[in-house]
Amino acid sequence: MERRPEPELMLDDEQARAYAEADFSEPHEHFVDLFAERFPGPVDGLVLDLGCGPGDVSLRFAARYPACAVHGIDGAPAMLAAGAELRSRHPAGPRVSLALGLLPEAVGPGAPYDTILSNSLLHHLHEPRNLWAVVVRDGAPGAAVFVMDLCRPDSREQVRALVAQHAADAPAVLRRDFENSLHAAFTPDEVRAQLDAAGLDGFRVEPVSDRHLVVWGRLPLASRIPGGLQP
Ligand SMILES: C[S@@+](CC[C@H](N)C(=O)[O-])C[C@H]1O[C@@H](n2cnc3c(N)ncnc32)[C@H](O)[C@@H]1O
Repeated sequence: MERRPEPELMLDDEQARAYAEADFSEPHEHFVDLFAERFPGPVDGLVLDLGCGPGDVSLRFAARYPACAVHGIDGAPAMLAAGAELRSRHPAGPRVSLALGLLPEAVGPGAPYDTILSNSLLHHLHEPRNLWAVVVRDGAPGAAVFVMDLCRPDSREQVRALVAQHAADAPAVLRRDFENSLHAAFTPDEVRAQLDAAGLDGFRVEPVSDRHLVVWGRLPLASRIPGGLQP
C-alpha cells in the first residue's frame, strides 16, 4: 500500500484535547519498557523528546528515571496547552518542560543531549530525513537514541482491522487520526533506507507489535556523520 502523508502538526483543539485525554498507557509504558530493555542502567542528565505532544511519554519516562529531566519540543500549541495540564498534576511534572518549536529548525535548549526519544513523530514528517538530521545535530557523541512509531500495513483491510481492534471505543476524531496515521507511517524497509542515508547505519529497526516499530542505537563516539539539514 502506498504511503499517504497526513498534516505534520496536530493544530486542532478538539484533536489535541481528545489525544491528551485518551488512554495511551499501554503503548506509552511499552515505550519506556522497550527503552529500558535496550539501554539497561540508569539515565541521568537531560533527555530530549522530539514531537512530545501533550508529554505523556515525557512524563512516564521522567517518572521511570528520577535522575533525569526531560525537554519536550512540539510545533502544536494546542498539544502543549493540553500537556501543561497533564504536567501540573503529575509527580514528575517539575522535571519535564514542554516547549513550542517547529522541527527541524527548533534546537533542544540543552543540546547536546545524552538521550533522545521520539514517539509517533516520524510518520507525521513530510521529510523524514529531518528527524534523523535533528538526532545527529542535537545528540552528544554516544547518545542513546530511541524512536517508536507506527508501521504502515500492507493493505487498507489491515488498516481497518487495526483501527477496529485498537480504537473501537475511541472518539471519532481519534479513530480517524489513527487510520490516517497508519496510512502515513513508514515500513521497516523505508526506515532502514532513511537511516542508511543519514549515516545511522549502526541503528537497529525492529517491529515490536502488530502496529509499531522501534529504531534504536547510539550515536558514534567520534563525529563521522556528515549530517546537515536539507533545505
Ligand atoms: C501523534 S503525536 C505524538 C505525541 C507524543 N510524542 C506522544 O507519543 O503522545 C505527533 C506530534 O508531533 C508533532 N509534530 C509533527 N511534526 C512536527 C514538527 N515538524 N515539529 C514539531 N512537532 C511536530 C505534532 O504536533 C504532534 O503533537
